[in-house]
Formats: sequence, C-alpha cells, structure tokens
Amino acid sequence: KIENSLRPKLLSDYIGQTKIKDNLKIYIEAAKQRKESLDHVLFYGPPGLGKTTLAGIIANEMDVNIKITSGPAIEKPGEMAAILNNLQDGDLLFIDEIHRLNRQVEEVLYPAMEDFAIDIVIGKGASARSIRLDLPKFTLVGATTRAGMLTAPLRDRFGVVHRLEFYSSEELVDIIIRAAGVFQVDIDEKGAWELARRSRGTPRLANRLLKRVRDFAQVKYDGRITLEVANFALDLLEVDKLGLDNMDRQILLTMLEKFSGGPVGLDTIAAAIGEDAGTLEDVYEPYLIQNGLLQRTPRGRIVTDLVYKHFGLS
Ligand code: ADE
Repeated sequence: KIENSLRPKLLSDYIGQTKIKDNLKIYIEAAKQRKESLDHVLFYGPPGLGKTTLAGIIANEMDVNIKITSGPAIEKPGEMAAILNNLQDGDLLFIDEIHRLNRQVEEVLYPAMEDFAIDIVIGKGASARSIRLDLPKFTLVGATTRAGMLTAPLRDRFGVVHRLEFYSSEELVDIIIRAAGVFQVDIDEKGAWELARRSRGTPRLANRLLKRVRDFAQVKYDGRITLEVANFALDLLEVDKLGLDNMDRQILLTMLEKFSGGPVGLDTIAAAIGEDAGTLEDVYEPYLIQNGLLQRTPRGRIVTDLVYKHFGLS
C-alpha cells in the first residue's frame, strides 16, 4: 500500500532525529549480537514527529513482531495481562499515549518490564495468595506527548528514553521529496521548501499538506508542485508563513487581545478559546515556544515581540 510505504522501515531511511538514530543503532546491534531482546524504550515529544514510525523501525530492524495498542484502550489489569501473555519471545509491544494507562493497569507493567513476569492474585481476603506467571522476553516501547505525566516507577523502568525534536526545514524538504516520490507527484525545490517551512517542524503535517497541495496542483495547475502552487494552496488552507494554523493564531491573538499579551495562566487561555489545557500544552505550545513566539514564565504565559511583528501590530 502506498500509504504504508510513507513510513520508512529502516533506520537508514529515517530522516532527522540524528541523535536518536545513532543511539538506537548501537542498542539494536548490541542486543542482536547478544541474541537478547532490546531494553524498553520510551519516546516522548509533540505529536506527529515519528514515535510510532520509530517503534515500527525497531521491530523491523530487530526482526520481531510488533503489537500496537494505546493507553486508553487497555481498561483492566486482566486485559494488560492477556496482551503480555500472548506475546512471543522477542516481540515488541508498542503502547501509544502510555501516560493514559490507569493505575491498576500500569501496576501490571512493573513486574512485567522488570522481571518478565506477572503476579496473579487468587482467592480473596485471608486466603488470597499470588502466583507468578512468567512472560516471554519482550520489548516495551512507550510513546507519550507528556513525559512529565508518567509516574516515576513507570518512567524508571525504561532503559532508553528519548525526546523527539521538531524537524528543521532542510530535513522536512527531504521528507517531502521522499513522500512526493511515494505519491508519484512532481515537485520542484522551491515548492518543497515552501511546504517544509509551513509544516510546523512536523512530518505528519508535511505529508498531509503535501497531499492537499497535490490536489490543487492536479486540478488547478498542470500537476507539478511549484512555489506558486504551494503558496496558492497553503494560503487557501490557512496555513501561514510561519506554519501557524487557525488554532495557533487564535491562541496568540487571544493572549494579545484579551490578556494584553500576558502573563496569563494556561487554564485561563484554555477556557478563553474553549480548548483542553492538556492539548494546548502538548500539541500547540511546544512549537510556539520553540519558535520564540510564546514563553513560559513563573507568572504565566507571555507572547513575545515576534508575535506583534507577525500580526503586523506594534
Ligand atoms: N516520513 C515521516 N517521517 C519521516 C522521517 N523522519 N523520515 C523519513 N520519512 C518520514
């Protein structure tokens, strides 16, 4: 399937996140030499930067099966026990949004990660006793947008912890040109560059915008994505020159207009724009902070001079 080959299968085909790649390459090679499973890995950082893709690559490079689930999907300890018990030796279990596991489910993971075992309680009250069930040697790969929300006991059981960074425009150009090859759409350097710089440092968004711009190129132009086509389509899609979308702009403009640019608390901003504070913090803020548009201070969030300039205000 075309959609699937968008995700690279090999570490060497994965663009960007150099530090993570260099480290994983060593750990994978070492584990393979010892014929052991890879240590548990935690990826954290904003959405769309490649956490799931990296989990898939690890499984492929280790030549093991991957089982994919998510924190909210596992509601009971027994469900977690069943998932773990059904794994084969060496398998990779990927848990997305791992910070959303409930406490009882999470506690099943502690002995599983540490000793490859689960403790099952039989009986009730005074006659209750626990038996230990051995599990296959698996690798847990967890992903979260909020490393700060993981409990210490869970976080401490990951041997490898990596934060994914936003991609540079140069890296996104490479990703876009690779994806254009997969979609078989013609794109020139300037077209790719414009898409890259408006993609919020995020490959998932770059690929999504590429598909939409391809539609405009096909219907309104001659099929080739040039600077002109990219500009035309991205303006219609309301993605501005900094890659900000409507929500980004609404956050910044609300802070400017209703709170004199801050300092203003996260919850206050969230209430004013009708968005969940956690989503604001995990999904929208990181890019705004990274690009020097917004700052966190002890007294709340403030917008920077760049914001006034971006919106043509003084
Ligand atoms: N597609 C999405 N993210 C990618 C990456 N980091 N490298 C290559 N292709 C990608």
